[in-house]
Amino acid sequence: MVKLTAQKLALSLSAAAATFGTAVNARTCTKPETSRIFEAEDAVLTGTNVQTSLAGYSGSGYVGGFDEGTDKITFTVPSTTAGAKLYDLGVRYAGIYGEKRTTVVLNGGASTEVLLPASDAFATVSGGQLLLKEGNNTIDITNNWGWYLIDYITLTPSAPRAAHSITPTLSNPTANAITRSLYAYLRTAVYGKKILAGQQDLSKASWIQSQTGKTPALVSVDLIDYSPSRVAYQGNVSTTVEDAIAHHGAGGIVSVLWHWNAPAGLYDTDANKWWSGFYTRATDFDIAATLAAGAGSANYTLVLRDIDAIAVQLKRLEAAGVAVLFRPLHEAEGGWFWWGAKGPEACKALYKLMYDRLQGHHGINNLVWIWNSVAADWYPGDAVVDVVSADVYAQGNGPMSAQYEQLIKLGGDKKMIAAAEVGAAPLPDLLQAYEAHWLYFCVWSDGFIENAEWNSLEVLRQVYNHEYVLTLDEVQDWPAIGAAAAS
Ligand SMILES: *[C@@H]1O[C@H](CO)[C@@H](O)[C@H](O)[C@H]1NC(C)=O
Ligand SMILES: *[C@@H]1O[C@H](CO)[C@@H](O)[C@H](O)[C@H]1NC(C)=O
Ligand SMILES: *[C@@H]1O[C@H](CO)[C@@H](O)[C@H](O)[C@H]1NC(C)=O
Repeated sequence: MVKLTAQKLALSLSAAAATFGTAVNARTCTKPETSRIFEAEDAVLTGTNVQTSLAGYSGSGYVGGFDEGTDKITFTVPSTTAGAKLYDLGVRYAGIYGEKRTTVVLNGGASTEVLLPASDAFATVSGGQLLLKEGNNTIDITNNWGWYLIDYITLTPSAPRAAHSITPTLSNPTANAITRSLYAYLRTAVYGKKILAGQQDLSKASWIQSQTGKTPALVSVDLIDYSPSRVAYQGNVSTTVEDAIAHHGAGGIVSVLWHWNAPAGLYDTDANKWWSGFYTRATDFDIAATLAAGAGSANYTLVLRDIDAIAVQLKRLEAAGVAVLFRPLHEAEGGWFWWGAKGPEACKALYKLMYDRLQGHHGINNLVWIWNSVAADWYPGDAVVDVVSADVYAQGNGPMSAQYEQLIKLGGDKKMIAAAEVGAAPLPDLLQAYEAHWLYFCVWSDGFIENAEWNSLEVLRQVYNHEYVLTLDEVQDWPAIGAAAAS
């Protein structure tokens, strides 16, 4: 379409309206709407207050005092566009108390968590996108992890999403045929077009079937109970590999994570029992010191022992023809798991060690490698990652667009993006409106799936029966579709 000046366009459209008797709103044809600023000090404050001591704010001050869980700022934002319209949200803040998170709630519904990195001065972060309705909208900035200062928010009409440019091949050049088919299927038939419905634990997938009439396309299982330090304590045998094989046998797609119980140094106190040994708080196992001590040292040998134990399980899956979306060392940047407790360098080195051990040493070729943190300094690199992902726990069944945008940046839009763990299943209409092209969502198990506060039955039925959402019955042909696309 040729470029018309705004005035000419408005004139030609009203002429068209006059000719064809259609109602054309000239307003929508005037100059493109630019960024709008909403000062925090002019908004409605609940438990928060206007402050002025930190220099560099805009307007007449900024807002702080987020010390109670219910403290918030409520902005009222009008939208004159007919229907719904998507905006990029910017948040100008100062993180003088260190890295924090805030929760953004649109019109009292879906919430988004926004990371506010530490900063001594006012800075702006992207808050993802917001779909404003016609008329007044409310945007709450609520406490979450507290202690930050908010200067203003900005709203800028979102540009349409550019086409993705996903890497056509897996990081592992010797990946086997079924794994290459899975990746090709996901890349060509799913990503950007649909979302796979996923669920943690096979028993919960059956529960979803009983409630919605549909079964998740993807089931995720945890290798936690194969960790040697748990086997030593429990003496019992995990069956999650059998669960994964069963779901594969039913035509589904399998994902695997591993709550790796630390190889040694479990406190096993009343407060921190041996079975919480994947938490930083429950072990003094030091991965940075272990990697520095190097091959041959006792603790390094224990790390290899554990990876080798997991290799046994992955090989069982490979032998059963299962391609695995493999997500080790998850949520590392949070620091609450021991593999993330010593910072990004140790964690990335451990990830590469695991990659080399499983693929190079053991020759395991059925893995699609999924990295699970949004921060750039934790990213192990394109050469060893196939899919990037985030775990998002926010109520309201929102599209999680802030994390999606962060992951687009992290992977350069060359890696597919997954919502590897969520508390709340995202509403498909919102996913489409926000163009948040998550490859799959996977609702966490206990506490989230059979809990109406996170996922009401009404929402689950809507999600599972939506045409945008792929369920088990709709992915049955994935190996054939993938094989054709891969060749
Ligand atoms: C929108 O909010 C403003 C101020 O908060 C108010 O004056 C106005 O009447 C509201 N408009 C609608 C359509 O509710
Ligand atoms: C193993 O034993 C523990 C303790 O008795 C139990 O809580 C757990 O559920 C068992 N796990 C499996 C996989 O059987
Ligand atoms: C090995 O790890 C254990 C458990 O964290 C720790 O107590 C021990 O000091 C470590 N060994 C060395 C040589 O660092």
